[in-house]
Amino acid sequence: MKIPCRLIVFFLLSFLLLTSCSTKQKTDAPKFTIGMSQCNLGEPWRVQMNLDIKNEAEKHPEIRVTYKDAQNDSLKQRSQIEEYVNAGVDLIIVSPKEAAPLTPPVAAAFEKGIPVIVLDRRVLGDKYTCFIGADNKKIGRAAGQWIVGQLGGSGQVVELKGLMTSTPGQDRHTGFREGTEGSDLDIMFEADMKWLEPEARKEMESALARFKNIDLVYAHNDPGAHGAYLAAKATGREKEIMFVGIDALPHEGQVYVKQGVLHASFEYPTGGREAIQTALKILNGENVPKEITLRSRVFTKDNIDQGGKWLDEEGEEK
Ligand code: FRU
Repeated sequence: MKIPCRLIVFFLLSFLLLTSCSTKQKTDAPKFTIGMSQCNLGEPWRVQMNLDIKNEAEKHPEIRVTYKDAQNDSLKQRSQIEEYVNAGVDLIIVSPKEAAPLTPPVAAAFEKGIPVIVLDRRVLGDKYTCFIGADNKKIGRAAGQWIVGQLGGSGQVVELKGLMTSTPGQDRHTGFREGTEGSDLDIMFEADMKWLEPEARKEMESALARFKNIDLVYAHNDPGAHGAYLAAKATGREKEIMFVGIDALPHEGQVYVKQGVLHASFEYPTGGREAIQTALKILNGENVPKEITLRSRVFTKDNIDQGGKWLDEEGEEK
C-alpha cells in the first residue's frame, strides 16, 4: 500500500509538535524542591522574609518552595527539619528560633548531604552549608555609638533585649555594650522581651514604674521599641523619652521614624532574596561562601527621605 506523501508530512509534523511540547513541559516543571522552615509568622518581619523568598523563587520555575511555620516553638521546628529530610527535599532554608535546639537537626540534615542555608539567626558550630544575615554586633555597636552621640555621652537608658537564646539578641546586646563603652550612659534597666511587642510593653511598664527619669529606650527590634512607646504613651511620658529600634521595614520601622514614634531604626534585611539566589547556586553545583553578610542602614528623621545611611559609609563603624 502506498502512503500518501501528505499523510507522512502530517504525522511527521504532529510528532515534532508533541515532542517539543513534552520537552517544554520538562524544562518548566520544578527540578528542585526547597523546604523552608520559618520560626514564626507572628511578626511582620518574618512575613516579609517569606514574601521576599516567594517573590525571588517565582522568577525560577525550576524550583518549588514549600513552607512550614514553627509558630515560635523550637521543638516543632526541629521536627519540621526532620520532616523535610524524610521527604527528600533538595535543599533546606531555615530561620531558626533558637541556636542550641536547632543545631542537631540542621547538622543531621547537612551530614546526610542535604544543603542547609541558615537565615538570619544562627545555629551553633559549622554543620550547615551557608549562613546569610546582617552583622548584628555591628548594628548593636552602631546603635550604641549613635545613642551616645544623641544623649551627649550620658543619660538613663532602658535596654529591651531580643530572645537571648537566639544569636541576634546576644549580638545586638554585646555590640551595644561595645558601642557605649567609655561613656557615662547608665543602662539602669534591661529585660528580655523575646522579640515580642506585648512583652516589651509589659517590661517597659515595670521600668516606668521604677524610674522617674528615662531618657532613651534601646530595643533589639522595632516591635519592641513600639511596645515600649505604647507603655510610655499610656502614662503620658512618651515625649520625654527617645525610642530606638532595629529592623526598619518600609511599612513598619521606617513609618515609625517618619511619624516621630522612633528616633532611629537600624535596618535588618530579611535575606529572603539572597537565600533563593544562593540556593540556586548550590543546586547548580556552584560553590558558595560559608557566610554571606548583608549590609544595613540607619534611618532617622534627617535621612529617611534620602533612603537612610549605610552603616559602612564614612564616619560609621566599619
Ligand atoms: C522577627 C525578629 C525581628 C528581628 C529578628 C531577629 O522574629 O524578631 O524583629 O530582627 O527576628 O532574628
